[in-house]
Amino acid sequence: MTLLSNSLKAMLVHLPATEHEGVSARFHQQAPVLLDHLQRLYGHHAHFPTWFTALTVALAKALQTRPQALRQLDRQRSADKDWFCSERMLGYCTYVDRFAGDLRGVAEKIPHLEEMGVHYLHLLPFLRARIGENDGGFAVSSFKDIEPRFGTMTDLRELTDRLRQSGISLCSDFILNHVADDHPWALAAKAGDETYRDYFYSYPDRILPDQFEQSLGQIFPQAAPGNFTFVDVLQRWVWTTFYPYQWDLNYSNPAVFSEMATALLHLANQGIEVFRLDSTAFLWKREGSNCMNQPEAHVILQALRCLIEIAAPGVLLKAEAIVPTAQLPAYLGSGTTNRDDNSTVPVKECHLAYHSSLMAAAWVALAEQDAGIIGHVMRGTPPLPEQASWLTYVRCHDDIGWNVLRQEAALGGDDGDGGEQRLSRVAQFFAGQEDSYARGASFQAADPAAVHGTVGMSAALCGFSSAKTEAQTELARHRMLLLYGLALTFGGLPVIYMGDELAQGNDETYRLDPAKVNDSRWLQRPDFDLDAFALRHDAGTLPGQMFSSLCRMLTCRRTHPQLAATGKRHWIFSPHAELLIFARGDIEQANVLYFVGNFSEHPVALDLRILGKSLPLQPGWMDILSGQTFLPEAGPAPLLPACSQLWLIPYFQGVLS
Ligand code: GLC
Repeated sequence: MTLLSNSLKAMLVHLPATEHEGVSARFHQQAPVLLDHLQRLYGHHAHFPTWFTALTVALAKALQTRPQALRQLDRQRSADKDWFCSERMLGYCTYVDRFAGDLRGVAEKIPHLEEMGVHYLHLLPFLRARIGENDGGFAVSSFKDIEPRFGTMTDLRELTDRLRQSGISLCSDFILNHVADDHPWALAAKAGDETYRDYFYSYPDRILPDQFEQSLGQIFPQAAPGNFTFVDVLQRWVWTTFYPYQWDLNYSNPAVFSEMATALLHLANQGIEVFRLDSTAFLWKREGSNCMNQPEAHVILQALRCLIEIAAPGVLLKAEAIVPTAQLPAYLGSGTTNRDDNSTVPVKECHLAYHSSLMAAAWVALAEQDAGIIGHVMRGTPPLPEQASWLTYVRCHDDIGWNVLRQEAALGGDDGDGGEQRLSRVAQFFAGQEDSYARGASFQAADPAAVHGTVGMSAALCGFSSAKTEAQTELARHRMLLLYGLALTFGGLPVIYMGDELAQGNDETYRLDPAKVNDSRWLQRPDFDLDAFALRHDAGTLPGQMFSSLCRMLTCRRTHPQLAATGKRHWIFSPHAELLIFARGDIEQANVLYFVGNFSEHPVALDLRILGKSLPLQPGWMDILSGQTFLPEAGPAPLLPACSQLWLIPYFQGVLS
């Protein structure tokens, strides 16, 4: 207790009197939980109390330097904590240079974002990155500087101001797990500084690395096999989960935690409103495990959440944890923690987490023309905790990783191999095997039968590039809209990946760049197609058709509160395996909304009697996407054409007349 009250005192002396009440309230609420988390991680260190006090001083400094406009935002959002769960929230994700050249260019593109109703913009890494290969900016050389090609910190602040004026929150990657091998900490370690050597995991020989390797997986088995890299100047093996130039940080060292927390708070004060916490699953190492999802990794995230709640409560944390469905919910917080007064409060972790198994399952369903696997994922997804949301998406800059679905794939597969062959067939399908319409590629798999990931833009995977007739193009569009339909209605914050709104295809030019050729994820990282953009309102063109049909769905979503992340979701059994059916909102209430999607290439009849069973009266149904109505008891069951979808709301006799 003395430690906490001393820390609060140490904090308040740095703050103006007007802030004392609000900050004290937040501190009293969060600090005991924060202390508890940090004691679990670092309490055994002799200097823990001094270290903790120093951390709170860093917190105070962050509060002190937080600009007025951001404090105002903090107040606003503290009064409306579910702001990001609204049906109006829509995200867009892109690389700075590929979209707009630099940060100033991004500001020029705000009208495009506004036209779609975007309220959240994820710009892929824009901090100063390693020269040469840098994993698309995911090898960070400085948390304090912007990548010179993209601009300066001043440009970033100006951009966040402009975005905020348009109601758009900027999301930035915060690469928690590693830094580049030319980050000052790595350079100091290489220069022989032992303090900095302890910022990383390194070993003088292969004894421990070999022991760890027995239970570790591989992220880039082809381009970067193994998890350790021998660094000549150190004469040691450094832990490098990803590429050899990305050095994993040693979070068992409290100095690493406080450095990273301070860097995060500093960036929050530049106007970044959402942090995509990269590779969160890997933060803690434990021998004999795969070093993913360890309890301590969660505690680190929970401690960061407490810090943010005190110093920048308007800011969101988003977990990038590409892990099986069962392990995902913990990233939004699970369980409770005891307070001093013996009451319990739910443990909070990130506000958002990628629902990567939903995304991958949707692609499997498309390839198999069977929605069963999505049903498994949905039933394995518990209701959201308070003030939390899934991030739903169709494609992103990474591969579609099939391994997260092993459990679900095994349930539906009859090969008795834990889903291996089933997922491998799907991967081969998207790599364009035999009569597949898809034009993607397998990621990091020398053996085409091995299951890893699939790369390619949505449009290429959905069949735009292989389409030879108008009907085939039309079907490709329906496939892509079906996947977006799921992301928009599932209940989360849906994010459009740049270029999808114009059905942009693959970019093969990466093969010409030595810094990219070994990483086929560049296939789905094209430059924004300005010609296609110019055609977006021309209904006679492919980009025009894609843009208008997607925008129609976006409008329907933002005008139906049932689709907010906070609303309930019920999966409905369908007698037709091709159909995915689920309800949003309360199934006993007239404002329920049903999503019905046909994942097959043939028409399927929908028996309307399976909808609205809990409603007091048998209603008629209206598809809000097309305005088409289906009358109760009248006529044959509606036919859903190949890859089509309905967003049905009930109406009762007389209501529409
Ligand atoms: C995340 C990023 C991915 C990157 C990796 C290593 O998974 O999404 O692009 O390669 O982290 O930083």
